[in-house]
Amino acid sequence: MRDLYPLGQMPPLGEVPARMLAHLIRPERFGEPTKAFQVEQVEVPADLQPDEVLVWVMAAGVNYNNVWASLGVPVDVIKGRQKDPDYRPFHIGGSDASGIVWKVGSDVQNVKVGDHVVIHCGTWSRDDPIVRAGGDPMFGASFRIWGYETNWGSFAQFTRVQAHQCLPKPKHLTWEAAAAYMLVGATAYRMLMAWPPHTVQPGDVVLVWGGAGGLGCQAIQIAREMGGTPVAVVSSEDKFEFCQRLGAKGCINRKKFSHWGMLPHWKDTAKYAEWVKGARAFGAALWEVLGERRNPRLVFEHPGEDTVPTSIFVCDTGGMVVICAGTSGYNAVVDLRYLWMRQKRFQGSHFANDDQARALNDLVAAGKVDPCLSETFTFEQIPHVHQLMHDNRHPHGNMACLVNAPRPGLRDVPQ
Ligand SMILES: NC(=O)c1ccc[n+]([C@@H]2O[C@H](COP(=O)([O-])OP(=O)(O)OC[C@H]3O[C@@H](n4cnc5c(N)ncnc54)[C@H](OP(=O)(O)O)[C@@H]3O)[C@@H](O)[C@H]2O)c1
Repeated sequence: MRDLYPLGQMPPLGEVPARMLAHLIRPERFGEPTKAFQVEQVEVPADLQPDEVLVWVMAAGVNYNNVWASLGVPVDVIKGRQKDPDYRPFHIGGSDASGIVWKVGSDVQNVKVGDHVVIHCGTWSRDDPIVRAGGDPMFGASFRIWGYETNWGSFAQFTRVQAHQCLPKPKHLTWEAAAAYMLVGATAYRMLMAWPPHTVQPGDVVLVWGGAGGLGCQAIQIAREMGGTPVAVVSSEDKFEFCQRLGAKGCINRKKFSHWGMLPHWKDTAKYAEWVKGARAFGAALWEVLGERRNPRLVFEHPGEDTVPTSIFVCDTGGMVVICAGTSGYNAVVDLRYLWMRQKRFQGSHFANDDQARALNDLVAAGKVDPCLSETFTFEQIPHVHQLMHDNRHPHGNMACLVNAPRPGLRDVPQ
């Protein structure tokens, strides 16, 4: 048995080498992604809990999580797990992957060695009281995002995950496309479909911020599949066609407006009036796209501080602004008058549970939602890709990096 396999060279199925190549973030390197990530050799985490599996990673998806992990803000993810029994002073990120099941724990029943899988990033303890009571594990105290809040993510030759995270790899997809969609797709699915009565209904207008981004491209397609009318917001007109091809009725260029950021204080009447003017102009642009005076029943939020006041302003009476992030900042000021008088809902949402991840995977497997893989990078380019994302210079849609897959375009085990 070999101690370490080079990238792209596959050990015999089920044989676990002692060591692997991985991109590590260490606290002493916290900073921009090109500084924080470095390839090192580490032990393969083959010591499995009964409900865990080891997966040979073919490709890893890239998302914003590990931009935050490399910066060390808003939390130091390594320090946050100092009390974990298998604590290591490093972080192997990566919260999206496609790969092959390589070893299974003693209680695992849903997958077997050799299965081709995609991995969702929701982890929790089987002993969590909420899980034991049959509740939504996303509300459990033990919930963690794999490859961000937990170690041993997909930027490595092997990853260690809980068996329930594994879902069948859609057969028509390449390894890299299969690695690209789950985190953003399942998050978008929960946001749009899991907060009744505010689930997308036929005819609903759904305003999607960052329509050409990872979350946005999934949200547009899910809203379209449910019969909704998505409208995308983007920062340049060259993104319009991409969003419209996915099903957006039209797009708004946010750069045409300047009222972004925290709401001015209502006592500062001049500034406040100016803000209202900007928000009204944005609402008028939305009506222009729709060709009628209708407001969104759902607003799909994630920029946060820059956009929440506008989202709440334009949301329909009785509608919902659903939010999963604060990319531009965390102080979202709300003019409560719009919230209570128009009885709007401001709902937080975070990743997804098994059912929601499976529902999204089924839509992808049926060809109804496209992963929107924009570009495939190499394992060595993992820091570079995160830097692109950090600088908002990344291509539309979702990106993936080959890990053990020897070249792009492969749908099965390479011969
Ligand atoms: N809680 C969860 O479960 C969860 C899951 C997935 C992602 N997230 C978070 O959600 C955020 C977005 O993720 P993503 O994968 O969609 O990232 P992404 O691919 O970078 O897309 C985000 C889009 O947001 C738009 N945007 C950026 N700054 C903006 C601003 N100030 N105002 C309005 N729009 C702005 C950009 O589009 P334009 O420049 O074209 O407008 C960008 O393409 C990240 O913070 C990520 O960490 C959270």
